[in-house]
Amino acid sequence: MIQKIAVIGAGTMGHGIAETFAMYGYPTSLYEVVDAVRNSVKKTIEGELLFLAENELITKEAVPEILGRITLYSDLKEAVADADYVIEAAPEKIELKQQLFKELDEYCKKEAVFASNTSSLKLDEMAKFLSPERKKRIMVCHWYNPAHLMPIAELSAFGNMPEEIYDEVAELYAKAGKQTVKVLKDIPGLVANRIQQGIAREVFSLIEMGAASPEDIDKALKFGPAFRYATAGQLEIADMGGLDIWCTVGDNLLSVMDNRKEANPILREKVKEGKLGLKSGEGFFSYPVGESDKIKNAFNKRLIIQLKTSKNYEK
Ligand SMILES: NC(=O)c1ccc[n+]([C@@H]2O[C@H](COP(=O)([O-])OP(=O)(O)OC[C@H]3O[C@@H](n4cnc5c(N)ncnc54)[C@H](O)[C@@H]3O)[C@@H](O)[C@H]2O)c1
Repeated sequence: MIQKIAVIGAGTMGHGIAETFAMYGYPTSLYEVVDAVRNSVKKTIEGELLFLAENELITKEAVPEILGRITLYSDLKEAVADADYVIEAAPEKIELKQQLFKELDEYCKKEAVFASNTSSLKLDEMAKFLSPERKKRIMVCHWYNPAHLMPIAELSAFGNMPEEIYDEVAELYAKAGKQTVKVLKDIPGLVANRIQQGIAREVFSLIEMGAASPEDIDKALKFGPAFRYATAGQLEIADMGGLDIWCTVGDNLLSVMDNRKEANPILREKVKEGKLGLKSGEGFFSYPVGESDKIKNAFNKRLIIQLKTSKNYEK
C-alpha cells in the first residue's frame, strides 16, 4: 500500500503536489536543488493553505499539521529512501528526467512506483535507462495547475505496468481528492491538454481575425460552452443536443475553422514583445504592477467556488 510520498522539484507544480498529498494525510518528502526555492517553499505552501482555510476548505488549525507532514530535502537519496511513490515535477527536459529516474532506480525501494508529471514527454523515453522490473512500475501522473485546487489527475494505463499497480495509484489519487482519468494510449498531451488546445486554437484565431473584443471572446466561452462544460462533458452535451445536429453543424463549420499546425502568430508576436501575461504585466489584458498576488487569489477563489459546487454533481 502506498503510504509515503516523495515529490521531486518544488516549483510551480511540485510544491502543489506535495501540498495536496500532505493535506490528505500523507507524509511527504519534497526534494529541491535550488536553495532559494527550498528555503521559501514552505512559506508559499503556508500562504496557500491559509487561503484555503479562509475559504473554509480546511480549518486554520489543520495548517501547521499539514505543513508538518512535508519534509524538505537537498539530498535526493535521503529524500526517497523510504518512499512508496515518487513523482517528479522537474523541468521538462528529456535528458534531465532520464538521469533523474536512473538515480531514483538506484536509491528507491524495489517496490516503489515512479511517476512523471510531464506535459509532453514520452513515457518509454523517460524510462530508457531503467531496469525491466522498474519499467513495470513507472507511469505518467499528470496534474493541472494549481495542483492543490484543480481536481483532475490523468494517469497513464499504457506502458508495461500491471493493472494492480495502476489500481493502487488510482486509489491513492482518489484518497487525495482527485478525479482520475485513465489514459489508454501514449499520446502527446494526454486527454485534457488536447481538448484545451483545441479550444485555445479557435480562441486565438478569433482574436487574430478581430471577430470580437478579447473581453467578449472570453465572455462567449465562459457564459457559452464553458458554462456547460463545468457541469457536463462534451459527449454528454452532444447526446443532449442530438448527434444529427452535431453532425450537420460540424460539416458546415469545421472546414472554415482554424486548423493550423503550430501556435498562432499572435502568441509569437506577443512573446517577442515581452507581453507574457500576468507575469510581465501585459498579455491579452493589462495587469496593474504589484497586484499579481491579488489577481491570482481572485482567480483561485473562483476555482474554490467551482470546486465546492462541483461536489454536488460528481457522479
Ligand atoms: N506549470 C504547469 O502548468 C504544468 C502543468 C502540468 C505539468 N507540468 C509539468 O510539470 C513539470 C514541472 O513543471 P513546473 O512548471 O513545476 O516547473 P518549475 O520550473 O516551476 O519547477 C521545476 C523545479 O524543479 C527543480 N529542478 C531543477 N533541476 C532539477 C533536477 N535536476 N532535479 C530535480 N529538480 C530540479 C527546479 O529548481 C524547480 O524548482 C514539467 O514536466 C512540466 O511539463 C507543468
